[in-house]
Amino acid sequence: TYVVTDACIKCKYMDCVEVCPVDCFYEGDNMLVINPSECIDCGVCEPECPAEAILPDTEDGLEKWLELNTKYSAEWPNITQKRDSPPDADEYKGKDGKYEAHFS
Ligand code: SF4
Ligand code: F3S
Repeated sequence: TYVVTDACIKCKYMDCVEVCPVDCFYEGDNMLVINPSECIDCGVCEPECPAEAILPDTEDGLEKWLELNTKYSAEWPNITQKRDSPPDADEYKGKDGKYEAHFS
């Protein structure tokens, strides 16, 4: 599966939802997550994210994000259409510490 990581937090560009063939993105206030049991591993969302927030869970150190995507995709609503990203999205792009400060 692919997972969304902290680089999405407060950026939420939503280009990912436009390309996913199985509509497996779910929306929190400040980030999106992927439902790992629905993701078919096609990989098309990874290069579409301007924040480089989407990674295959085969990369090292992503256990925390796999858990978080699994947990919150069961709680948050499905999102299938891109809307405007937050006006200050670019200010948060690439910033450290977003999970601690802004996860929701
Ligand atoms: Fe959707 Fe494919 Fe990305 Fe999985 S890898 S979330 S199926 S676009
Ligand atoms: Fe987030 Fe990137 Fe999608 S910033 S909303 S994972 S395009």
